Amino acid sequence: MEQLTVATTPIEGQKPGTSGLRKKTRVFMQPHYLENFVQAIWTAIGGVQGKTLVLGGDGRYFNDRAAQVILRMAAAGGAARVIVGQGAILSTPAASNLIRQRQTDGGIIMSASHNPGGIDADFGVKFNTPNGGPAPEDVTNRIYEATTKLTAYEILESQDIDLSTLGETRLGDMVVEVVDPVVDYAALMEQLFDFDAIARLIAGGFTLRFDAMHAVTGPYAKAILEDRLGAAPGSVMNATPQPDFGGGHPDPNPIWAKPLVDLVMGPDAPDFAAASDGDGDRNMILGRGVYVTPSDSLAVLAANAHLAPGYADGLKGVARSMPTSRAVDRVAVARGLDCYETPTGWKFFGNLLDAGRATLCGEESAGTGSDHVREKDGLWAVLLWLNILAVTGRSVAETMQTHWAEFGRNYYTRHDYEALDKQLAEGLMNGLRVRLPDLPGQVFAGRRVAQADEFAYDDPVDGSHSAGQGLRVVFEGGARVVFRLSGTGTEGATLRVYLEDFVDDPARLDMAPETALADVVAAADQIAGIRTTTGRDGPDVTT
Ligand code: G6P
Ligand code: ZN
Repeated sequence: MEQLTVATTPIEGQKPGTSGLRKKTRVFMQPHYLENFVQAIWTAIGGVQGKTLVLGGDGRYFNDRAAQVILRMAAAGGAARVIVGQGAILSTPAASNLIRQRQTDGGIIMSASHNPGGIDADFGVKFNTPNGGPAPEDVTNRIYEATTKLTAYEILESQDIDLSTLGETRLGDMVVEVVDPVVDYAALMEQLFDFDAIARLIAGGFTLRFDAMHAVTGPYAKAILEDRLGAAPGSVMNATPQPDFGGGHPDPNPIWAKPLVDLVMGPDAPDFAAASDGDGDRNMILGRGVYVTPSDSLAVLAANAHLAPGYADGLKGVARSMPTSRAVDRVAVARGLDCYETPTGWKFFGNLLDAGRATLCGEESAGTGSDHVREKDGLWAVLLWLNILAVTGRSVAETMQTHWAEFGRNYYTRHDYEALDKQLAEGLMNGLRVRLPDLPGQVFAGRRVAQADEFAYDDPVDGSHSAGQGLRVVFEGGARVVFRLSGTGTEGATLRVYLEDFVDDPARLDMAPETALADVVAAADQIAGIRTTTGRDGPDVTT
């Protein structure tokens, strides 16, 4: 087999965002594009000579081709072994688990998460470090640096490697080990949760639906929920992963998983329903007649995790991203837990989890997880919910009511303005940034601003500083608005407006969120002039 050194030149824009490098699939398919980025990863981690890596992806279009390229480049770089999910498939949490369990030097995950898949949709590549988590900023900065200086990459010339058969093969001197993507992950879940209690709940007539959205969690959910826990066949919907996710948008929220939401709001609602995203790290939790916001889900899990065997000794602490509602903070105060506020991006939880400062983490963007891996984990959240319901015997609706009665309710919604002109969006943020110091004391839609600042984070473990992480305006009485530009989009800019209000008056715990938040929404628009600046009547997506 011949090892080739291919001359190349830096390609602009290969800067990893919130979660690795995400681009249009056709961009990734351009000559040298993927190769340049992979070579830059190798450079950033000091090469792959003698190393063991994990490789897998969510099965989207180009996943199979990219896997072959990455394997050839790993072999050319002298890697000792690459552990690959069968068919180059691994959910993101399963990849994180394998990286940790097999004590590897990290791994590469091929996914654009919840973004659509297909030749005209999105693709992505992300490097995870040996702790199983997304590379922290110093590593992603080094990767970017390297992309700007490349002159060549190394690749082995070979036939495609068979990734459909379990077992070991060789690629040059490197071992390619093809593993079942589900088995180790399912075993980990069985350690954390009381599978017998959940199975008894289901055997007792409790019904559930899990929407895999034609994405990677199908096989995982079928193996665990149907085969192991006894949910009726067909409880897992859209269970066969497809390269274009059935033409859908594999994002588990009330917009993109609307059929599931309609189901739980209708006459044939199951007791419990959930969905996950393209690569299996996000989750949406529903009950009969109820949608649980991700922020509330995190709070409920924090308050009840001790009911599951894996968390029976209690939590070391909890963490949430800054724009996530402060519902979990109330649980932390009541239970005497440390509570951390980090920038958006799961990578910021890594140090807290590694240092044993936090056990549970979550984000408003439908991510919840714990220290069992270093990624958020969709099915894990589903199983923890089921474990809690099995122990308490409560419905999802009763669980929420009990929770709000004890801790109060943080009404919450997020408004997204998508595909905005980049300069216009940046202009809006810059304009607002300079006005922040003047806001305190001013009244918008009847709400007086108490505090306004730009969020920055000092990591308490490694001391690293992350600036420019979102503009926040806090009102007297506990309402809050956060303005932020998304770091995961692939088209123009997405402005996210996160809206929250806290209520503990027992008579006001059961309002429709849009009613409860109406004046906070109006205040946000007045403060930032969103409608006038963007020319849009309202958000494209409301979650
Ligand atoms: C990905 C990341 C999350 C992040 C989310 C939204 O799912 O893994 O950590 O919260 O994207 O990020 P964005 O920058 O688009 O708001
Ligand atoms: Zn995802």
